[in-house]
Amino acid sequence: MKARLCDLLGIDVPIFAFSHCRDVVAEVTKAGGMGVLGVAYKTAEQLDGELQWIDERVGGKPYGVDVLLPSKYEKLADRRIAADDLPDDQVRFMRRVLDDAGIPRLPDDDGPAMVQSFLDRINMTREQADALVDVALRHPIKAVVSALGSPPKETVERLHALGIKVGALAGKTEHALRHKAAGVDFVVAQGMEAGGHTGKVTSMILWPQLIDAVAPLPVLAAGGIGRGRQMAAALALGAEGVWCGSIWLGSRESELNPAQRRRFFAAGSDDTVQSRLRSGKPARVLRSKLSDAWERPDAPPFAPMPYQTLLMVEPHLRVERGRDDQWQYYPVGQIVGDMHAETSCRQIVYDMMNELVEATERLSAMVLEDGHARP
Ligand SMILES: Cc1cc2nc3c(=O)[nH]c(=O)nc-3n(C[C@H](O)[C@H](O)[C@H](O)COP(=O)(O)O)c2cc1C
Repeated sequence: MKARLCDLLGIDVPIFAFSHCRDVVAEVTKAGGMGVLGVAYKTAEQLDGELQWIDERVGGKPYGVDVLLPSKYEKLADRRIAADDLPDDQVRFMRRVLDDAGIPRLPDDDGPAMVQSFLDRINMTREQADALVDVALRHPIKAVVSALGSPPKETVERLHALGIKVGALAGKTEHALRHKAAGVDFVVAQGMEAGGHTGKVTSMILWPQLIDAVAPLPVLAAGGIGRGRQMAAALALGAEGVWCGSIWLGSRESELNPAQRRRFFAAGSDDTVQSRLRSGKPARVLRSKLSDAWERPDAPPFAPMPYQTLLMVEPHLRVERGRDDQWQYYPVGQIVGDMHAETSCRQIVYDMMNELVEATERLSAMVLEDGHARP
């Protein structure tokens, strides 16, 4: 496709796949799009191994990494937080809720170590983010994307000096303007339909507003895209490509287990909720008994970032070990209502491109006759 980001990054089609799963990143990259690996919950060693694995599969095709490059909460988390530092009310509330539901506690002997080893994998500080970027730079990455907040200028300059393009997610036009001032090469405009952290503005409204505000900087549209007609709408609204997160979760390459995937296939678009339970900031997740529990009148307030993320580690491990699907709260966007059966990443890319072409032809035929606008 002729799109500025295809030229900038050396890709065939401007379809970007955000994923925490190396298999999705490799498959979408091989299919001509660009996989971007989320590194927030990986140790440096893990990341190195996963990027090595991707390198061995993509044959030199371009891929990227997505890093939490936080600005505000680094003061809170400038050291590793131990389980004992977590806020009491919220920890006790979660224990009570899961005890009442009969979900077993973690074993006394190795439970604390399990929680701590999970905590150690959560990267929340500037130092940790820089360390992950250092690891990523040992691999032929072509882009680094900042998940929450504008990337520090020094980081942008350092990456640019190495020929690496920099992007950043924005749910608000003001955030995108800050990213532009920080020197990014592209912005991802993410509407509130999206899975994961979201703002309050829907894609249909956000995309054109943000695109106009940061022009001529290229913008990728995100939030609610899973098929070609949605991609056509994004391009019609001025985007240079699309950035998708949820749709890959239904592929056989995704990190979800078969039971989780079945739950997604059964869900409708109104089965997702925006909740602060995951991190203290609003994020869209599949509604579950756990997200409902935080809405109860006896629920304590959500803890600020990063404490909410950290205090949810123990409940997450309990629910995972207890294998009770009804309590799992996986991030996913409203596009989940369009996900009905297992497919592959390659098929998703091909279907998206085919439907994009059909949609474009249909629109052209409505507007143009023999190359001229209809009278
Ligand atoms: C399971 C999941 C985890 C996510 N984690 C991150 C993350 O760590 N960093 C990030 O920049 N975006 C994250 N996102 C948001 C995606 O990057 C993307 O903007 C979003 O999924 C786009 O909307 P969609 O879900 O409708 O495709 C996540 C999304 C999902 C579904």
